[in-house]
Amino acid sequence: MSNINTRLVHGAVDGDPVTGAVNVPIYQTSTYRQPELGRNTGYEYSRTGNPTREALEKQIADLEGGTAGFAFASGMAAIDAVLRLYGSGRTVIISSNVYGGTFRILDKVFSRFGLGYRIVDTADLGAVEKSITPDVSALLIESPANPLMTVTDIAAVSEIARDRGIHTIVDNTFMTPYLQRPIGLGADIVVHSATKYIGGHSDLVAGLAVVNDGELAERLHFVQNATGGILQPFDSFLALRGIKTLGVRMDRHVSNAEQIAEHLQGHPAVSKIYYPGLRTDPGYGVNRKQASAGGGMISFELNEGYDHRAFLSSTELIALAESLGGVESLLCHPASMTHASIPADIRRAVGITDRLIRLSVGIEDGNDIIADLEAAFGRSKLV
Ligand SMILES: Cc1ncc(COP(=O)(O)O)c(C=O)c1O
Repeated sequence: MSNINTRLVHGAVDGDPVTGAVNVPIYQTSTYRQPELGRNTGYEYSRTGNPTREALEKQIADLEGGTAGFAFASGMAAIDAVLRLYGSGRTVIISSNVYGGTFRILDKVFSRFGLGYRIVDTADLGAVEKSITPDVSALLIESPANPLMTVTDIAAVSEIARDRGIHTIVDNTFMTPYLQRPIGLGADIVVHSATKYIGGHSDLVAGLAVVNDGELAERLHFVQNATGGILQPFDSFLALRGIKTLGVRMDRHVSNAEQIAEHLQGHPAVSKIYYPGLRTDPGYGVNRKQASAGGGMISFELNEGYDHRAFLSSTELIALAESLGGVESLLCHPASMTHASIPADIRRAVGITDRLIRLSVGIEDGNDIIADLEAAFGRSKLV
């Protein structure tokens, strides 16, 4: 079963062999009867292992091409667990516009335990090369990065990291394994906010991590079990259900995003557009090499003649909301929402201005999304 569309539907664990149920059952149990002292069924306690969560973990490992997967209570819990692989006195390099929460956990939590971080423009391979001093244990990148859609060459960065004996961690939330598989490009660890495209319906908060070797799998399983930020059985079921339709949803997210990006390019209300699926985007070539499309996320800067507050409050179909990757289109103001935890000077230095708007393109009719944007441009134009 090699085609991804088939693997998305049938999964690494296809239904329930005992009853023939076509879906993996929700094993809503904390513990498991042991047949005799010292012997168990493979499950002892649901923090350590649960069959519904395990089906999701096997499924994401298979889709990402890794050796083992792990499901967590949120994307941040997954990132937290992965960062716990590295000790005090070590440093993690992060891309210059990673998700604000990734910056925050390093800046405000891990720094208190001695794990440092440095921000590097990972699209610049020379800068990556230079940043790897002896204290560095890993590079944590997003491609495209949130919210400026900066593309990092995953294969090139992973090769630099491997040569220097450090790990490459890729947050693949924006692309999903349907469009991009970082482990095949040389990465060691992939993380996801499964809250986004994998869940796909804005009804779930979940995180996933996939590793590419047995030793890393053992270490991450130890952290997952020791710290306990696991995904619950019902939420594991929702994530499994989301994965079944990931391919068809992503196809529509991408075709709508391409249509909208073309519409916004050169539009009088828009001074800059960031979408790696546009031929004119600086990341287009590298993205095409490593991913099968530009994804469903577009950022753009409103022109000076428009009021960004009025614009964000005047769409009707598109909701102003945190998050992304659901079937419905969402607008976000990164400077005050997703990236508010990044200090204003760093935000400005990396290009996250107050006029920057991020659009998570849903699977509605593309023409209706464009009509809603046009109406909001009309209502926010300064006279
Ligand atoms: C790229 C990216 N990574 C990680 C996260 C954190 O995931 P969660 O909100 O599921 O904790 C987010 C959330 O917006 C995200 O956009």
